[in-house]
Amino acid sequence: MASTAKAVEPVISAAWGKPQSWTLDSYRQRGGYDGLKRALTMEPAAIIDEVKKSNLRGRGGAGFPTGMKWSFVPKDSPKPKYLAVNGDESEPGTFKDRYILENDPHMMLEGIAIASYALGVHTCYVYLRGEFKFQAERTQAAIDEAYKAGIFGKSMLGKDFQLDCYVVRGAGAYICGEETALLESLEGKKGWPRLKPPFPAVVGLFGSPTVVNNVETLASVPCILAKGAEWYAKLGTDKSGGTHLVCLSGSVNRPGVYEVGMHTTILELIHDDQYGQGMPKGRKVKAVIPGGSSAPVLGADELDVALEFEALKMKQTMAGSGGVIVMDDATCMVRSLWRVARFYAEESCGQCTPCREGTPWQTRLLRKIEEGRGEPGDIDMLSNVASSIAPYPPIGLGNTICALGDAAALPTHSFLMRFRDEFEAHLREKRCPFGDRPWGSYG
Ligand code: NAI
Ligand code: SF4
Repeated sequence: MASTAKAVEPVISAAWGKPQSWTLDSYRQRGGYDGLKRALTMEPAAIIDEVKKSNLRGRGGAGFPTGMKWSFVPKDSPKPKYLAVNGDESEPGTFKDRYILENDPHMMLEGIAIASYALGVHTCYVYLRGEFKFQAERTQAAIDEAYKAGIFGKSMLGKDFQLDCYVVRGAGAYICGEETALLESLEGKKGWPRLKPPFPAVVGLFGSPTVVNNVETLASVPCILAKGAEWYAKLGTDKSGGTHLVCLSGSVNRPGVYEVGMHTTILELIHDDQYGQGMPKGRKVKAVIPGGSSAPVLGADELDVALEFEALKMKQTMAGSGGVIVMDDATCMVRSLWRVARFYAEESCGQCTPCREGTPWQTRLLRKIEEGRGEPGDIDMLSNVASSIAPYPPIGLGNTICALGDAAALPTHSFLMRFRDEFEAHLREKRCPFGDRPWGSYG
């Protein structure tokens, strides 16, 4: 397909690939820290209002309005307040935040400075997944530059406002990307999610009010302050401002991370010359997971939909963390779901019974069906096990402490709803009709 998708003015990725884009000099030449300069002339409450008006929504997965989250932090708390940056990017199919950290870490640091000033935060922790060694080094180098330039440290660009910023690396547990598990991990404990409410904005790190924001969310803040909320809101749709990063993987000619408008559809992302450039020769799209492996799968006839929170919610799925996984007509859906289910069983922290017992149970049933050992009743049993973890729809009403339970059950519900015939074919034929290849044409 030639380029028909509306071109997008890149906001987050504009400097990626340019020489030394990660340095303070390069960032400043592009107007870097102008947003912070403007923010420092404003009242903190006015900054929060500006972010609210921009319609910026969290880019970690849930799409919660950022300005609203900031406004939940009590203004008169006697305790110190904290900002925790969630850079524990581990959702299968999601690999965007690492590019920000590698290519333009100052954009996130400027967002941190603006958020901290607006919230009255004097300590920020950037929590990165353990595997992000290189990204952690690059982020630390940028933080060092920011200290030397008088952005972090005792006074922020000459203003009487102290901010200290630390990089902390996790140890490779997916669950530590769940915001309360992340806080437990920051406190030096095992990463076990906490019951919410209370939400971290009120009771967070060390029992103090804490805002947890994703890397891309914070990197989106500087341009809102520099160019105005109205400009940013207009880039998006009525309820979702700005542009966003999507991670395209699976059966496409040109996988990668792309900055797209909220109006860009899944079909455009797969086929347009600016993005995926279509399917490999001879292959047709069968299914797409639109927002990281937790998001319910869509069938081939459901893809003319914008990659945007509200539009995907209407389809009973989620924009999630922006991981778009494309599966072609040679992909076995039972094997794919088995693979997803294994991941969640492996990563469950084991605190709640439905998740601890249900995730390996799903995995065992799926393996049995995939290997041609399935018996009548196994498909219904699989559906029952998933429903005991989290019913579907609606999304987000699981029977567990954190969203990992939902994330493990939703794929099962949606694969069964759309591709039940493939599960039945495995039972009927007592083998996988797609042969032994693990990932369709990529096996
Ligand atoms: P959530 O909907 O419970 O919360 C979203 C955010 O809003 C949280 O920061 C929460 O504290 C805040 N919030 C919600 N209601 C609030 C209230 N009344 N007062 C104060 N704050 C409030 O979603 P959750 O569990 O934080 O995230 C789930 C999402 O994370 C999933 O949709 C999934 O896509 C995504 N995810 C992303 C990963 C990644 O690697 N980026 C990994 C795993 C999941
Ligand atoms: Fe742990 Fe799963 Fe319960 Fe989340 S849902 S707290 S991962 S057992």
